[in-house]
Amino acid sequence: MSATNFVRQHIRTLAPYSPIVPFDVLSEQLGLPIEDIIKLDANENPYGPSPKAIAAIQDLPFPHIYPDPESRKLRALLADFLQVSAEHILCGAGADELIDLILRLVLDPNDAILNCPPTFGMYAFDTAINAGNVISVPRLPNFALDLDAIEATVAEHQPKIMFVTSPNNPDGGLISDADLKRLLALPMLIVLDEAYIDYADPGASRMHWVPDYENLMVIGTFSKWAGLAGLRVGYGAFPLALMQYLLIIKQPYNINVAAEAAAIATLQDMAYLQHNLQLLIAERSRLTEKLADIAYLTPLPSQSAFVLCDVTGDKQAADLKQTLAANGVLVRHFNKTGVNNMIRISVGKPEHTDKLIQVLKELE
Ligand SMILES: Cc1ncc(COP(=O)(O)O)c(C=O)c1O
Repeated sequence: MSATNFVRQHIRTLAPYSPIVPFDVLSEQLGLPIEDIIKLDANENPYGPSPKAIAAIQDLPFPHIYPDPESRKLRALLADFLQVSAEHILCGAGADELIDLILRLVLDPNDAILNCPPTFGMYAFDTAINAGNVISVPRLPNFALDLDAIEATVAEHQPKIMFVTSPNNPDGGLISDADLKRLLALPMLIVLDEAYIDYADPGASRMHWVPDYENLMVIGTFSKWAGLAGLRVGYGAFPLALMQYLLIIKQPYNINVAAEAAAIATLQDMAYLQHNLQLLIAERSRLTEKLADIAYLTPLPSQSAFVLCDVTGDKQAADLKQTLAANGVLVRHFNKTGVNNMIRISVGKPEHTDKLIQVLKELE
């Protein structure tokens, strides 16, 4: 008998998520030294963490002792940063862990989530792992949510929960207050994923709305604005009625001591992080302008850590991605409904933009 027979039925047919390739493997694949690789494919912060976060990891007093299961110190600082009281806040090993935790909390087998592609892939993937069904209501051609279709779908299928990404990945657009309020009036839970909100105009976050709604959760992460993607720290604000269950089902030591120390040091060094964020936001404008000058690309305006581009003329997004990679520049390409023949480029340092544009110009 094969061991496969013991694997849960719905997991046997699951297609794997394709995560990014690590630096050293890439270096070998491309035949380039790591320092020559310009990584604009996963929206990491090219300036990296605060030096104080690195120092905090180097100086860990008790790495041999389990971490605080309630991440009390980190949550107290997050309360200040997010303008929501600590009792609403839960931390996870990345926002990814929180997405999975939320689904484990609410989905019985065959329950449905409402998903609005094109968007971040983990909502559908984690739903499949949790034996749920995904009902898709595609975004409109301009990437806005199709509110009428969403309302009709909720009435017909009663999904338990919906994920809304703002700014959305891959286009970088925000949901409006009016649209979010329309969603919150529906009989389901709303998870607002604000992984990139710190790159948007000031005041764009709705994290502080959470205490006013029974059905709103908002998640964020240290991966993008704080340069801690490798340490895996995310956070979210949740209705108190859900907090009690989330605390029961989460792994007790999900935030390790190095990650917690780095996140705490980050929140105590906001001027450093804000400075780099301002550099990236300015660079996003310059990148967008330069991309608009490339004959076969049409960049979309973005409030996020990346710029999505339509590839036009006789050029193919897949070929562009390959050519850029051969030159040491990594980007994401898409070839599916809603994002057909498009590339997504993370905002990097000015010298990264210059190298990218140089390679793209040579292809004109
Ligand atoms: C929209 C969105 N949400 C969540 C995440 C996951 O973030 P984390 O690194 O905190 O797990 C990502 C990462 O790319 C993302 O794009």
